[in-house]
Amino acid sequence: MALGSALLKRLFVSKSLGLPWLDIRFGRKGDPKHGKPCCLLPDGSTAPIEFNVSHQAGLVALVGCQIADMELGADIVCVNERNDYRVIDQDGFDGWVDVYQEIFSAEESWDMKYNTDPFKLLDGTELSPADVGRNDRCCTRDKELTVVLKSGEERRFSSDLLIDAKLRRFYTFWCYKEAFIKLTGEALLAKWIKNLEFRNVRAPVAGTIARCSTLGSWGERVDDVEVWLHRKKLEDVKMEIQAFEENFMIAIAAKPSSKLPFNDFPKFASLNLEQDIIAVAETSS
Ligand SMILES: CC(C)(COP(=O)(O)OP(=O)(O)OC[C@H]1O[C@@H](n2cnc3c(N)ncnc32)[C@H](O)[C@@H]1OP(=O)(O)O)[C@@H](O)C(=O)NCCC(=O)NCCS
Repeated sequence: MALGSALLKRLFVSKSLGLPWLDIRFGRKGDPKHGKPCCLLPDGSTAPIEFNVSHQAGLVALVGCQIADMELGADIVCVNERNDYRVIDQDGFDGWVDVYQEIFSAEESWDMKYNTDPFKLLDGTELSPADVGRNDRCCTRDKELTVVLKSGEERRFSSDLLIDAKLRRFYTFWCYKEAFIKLTGEALLAKWIKNLEFRNVRAPVAGTIARCSTLGSWGERVDDVEVWLHRKKLEDVKMEIQAFEENFMIAIAAKPSSKLPFNDFPKFASLNLEQDIIAVAETSS
């Protein structure tokens, strides 16, 4: 992934600025060790170009632009990559959310523990939060839950499905937060991370899984999250999150949104390493 990131950054810079690959250099803005990576021109000055990269579980993404004073952030999460169930089964989903209390505000933690997005039962029935009712307080796996649908029909299902929906929602919060702190470049040095709050959060509906040698498909794009900092809504930030395949989500943040020449972010383009990157690198003088 480090190699994928290195190649993708060079492709973006060489295509945007017309620099030969061998002349492309990177530095960091602000903190020389932990600052946001930037591109340096051959004379050592910062190039008029903005980008941010994220990589996770074999996927590498870059967002970039050449709009003056624009800041961009990107983050990829992979929902089923880690063994989160171990902690959830031991301490409950609420206990698991509490592990991250240095990162999320009390409101966000509550929202993640006890609210849910719509999710599907194994027979295909989609449950809305209203259908789930007060079952939404459930934080344990392996419990049988019962709901009564609007039609009067009853459905019994394992709480594992509810916890999976909550986990996906947790990663949506995480992805938004990480994309925003990466936009600012402060990353882990950001002392205000708990005061950065996301409201109106909804996990994007997943795409389809990869089969045989093909990639899976892109899922839903969601762009109506609210970003709050120190209890004030930030109006000059545009954020979007999109699902990829079954488990990936990619969040993008851009600031100031007033300078964006479009309402919707352009779509991600999937690149082929050999054809779209290596071949270009080999012909770059
Ligand atoms: C380095 C960090 C910026 C991102 O790390 P990460 O989420 O593990 O990794 P990602 O794949 O999303 O991002 C890695 C890329 O971020 C970029 N990056 C590094 N430092 C950065 C900074 N200060 N600001 C913005 N981007 C940065 C780099 O391009 C890096 O890729 P590269 O080394 O291949 O060029 C840092 O914030 C971090 O370690 N965060 C994770 C831990 C955490 O507590 N997050 C809480 C927020 S929910």
